[in-house]
Amino acid sequence: MAKNVDSPSLAREQIEVLLTAAEPRRYRIVVQPGLMNRLGEECQDILAPDAKILLLTDSHLAERYLPTAMDSLKAADFEVIPMVISAGEHSKSLAQAQEVYETALQHSMTRKDAILGLGGGVIGDLAGFCASTYHRGIAVIHAPTTLVAQVDSAIGGKTAVNFGKIKNNIGTFHQPLRVLSDTSALDSLPERELAAGMAEVIKYGLIETSCMGTTGFFTWLLNHAQAGTLRAAFPEMIRRCCEIKAAVVMQDELETKGLRFFLNLGHTFGHAYESLSEYGLLHGEAVAIGMQKALRLSTLLDLFPAEVESQLETLYRHTNLLDCVQQPLPYTPQALLEKMRLDKKNRDANIRLILPVEQPGKVVVRDDIPDTLILKVLAGN
Ligand SMILES: NC(=O)c1ccc[n+]([C@@H]2O[C@H](COP(=O)([O-])OP(=O)(O)OC[C@H]3O[C@@H](n4cnc5c(N)ncnc54)[C@H](O)[C@@H]3O)[C@@H](O)[C@H]2O)c1
Ligand SMILES: [Zn+2]
Repeated sequence: MAKNVDSPSLAREQIEVLLTAAEPRRYRIVVQPGLMNRLGEECQDILAPDAKILLLTDSHLAERYLPTAMDSLKAADFEVIPMVISAGEHSKSLAQAQEVYETALQHSMTRKDAILGLGGGVIGDLAGFCASTYHRGIAVIHAPTTLVAQVDSAIGGKTAVNFGKIKNNIGTFHQPLRVLSDTSALDSLPERELAAGMAEVIKYGLIETSCMGTTGFFTWLLNHAQAGTLRAAFPEMIRRCCEIKAAVVMQDELETKGLRFFLNLGHTFGHAYESLSEYGLLHGEAVAIGMQKALRLSTLLDLFPAEVESQLETLYRHTNLLDCVQQPLPYTPQALLEKMRLDKKNRDANIRLILPVEQPGKVVVRDDIPDTLILKVLAGN
């Protein structure tokens, strides 16, 4: 369990990840508004007092958050090396990684030092990748600033750069030393990015039971969305997502046991839309479409209560995802199906899908769904 029954000393805003695959190790995810002002304090018990911190952030964030982050780290007596890179997916590259290594080298960083990634998934993936390879691995600390990063990419240790036009083609597993999520940072996040993050949040509501045995997150989300209180409940919402992701990571740290596959609900459908849109759709938007398709398929197969489809629609309406999901898209079902066949998670020629079953929270993996049925769902019937 991600929740800490064994560690009563943990505060409510803290979640602990206990790892055993390589060497036993645990790290904390702290989710709290205003945490940016306490980054330095939060690093004091995990880094040596004379540690240098390469503070990596992007051009959209530098002006707004870098001064606060730097002040906080300096007040805790750390030597800080700020590095601002251009915002956007193109920065997840080996060329950009090389510049990070060069900066680290110029400042004679060693294994007692750390990289702190302040930003979204792009910064986190790059910071993690560089930290895992520089001097055979130095510490990485994540300070995620997007919803996607706070509920997903900062937890679990996957790092990556894109290579040969393939996303995340080169990467490592490198767990962070700590994750520091300042939920106030989401106030400046563009609405579209926030909505894309909400798709991953809703996904947790639909896989919770299969990941950690508990139920109720989907209904919790629905109730808050309908009452208009979701925004105010962000810290708790993000913590609940982190608990679910942490539960999966603890059971399947290196993605060898299949459990991490549940995190891909909506993604096989979603990747097809994402790829045909040539990344005009944000990943989360494509996942929102994909989850709707997965639900439709489950309903058609009589695996799942039909009323959840309208509940999902309600959730989408309240999280600014409905317009995106309902927009007419120019892709033919056949073209989408061909893309789905290319999904790297497939075995043989069969398309592997995660489908909701019984009630929100439970999913199964199926690779026996006839193409005709998938095409029907893709055609919107
Ligand atoms: N490692 C993993 O397990 C994992 C999981 C999911 C996604 N990812 C990766 O994460 C990346 C996507 O992450 P993302 O959605 O966070 O995108 P991102 O890092 O590109 O951030 C989205 C945009 O929001 C801006 N931004 C970030 N925080 C902001 C804030 N608080 N206020 C204003 N603007 C802000 C960024 O500058 C950027 O323009 C992809 O590269 C994906 O492959 C990795
Ligand atoms: Zn995703």
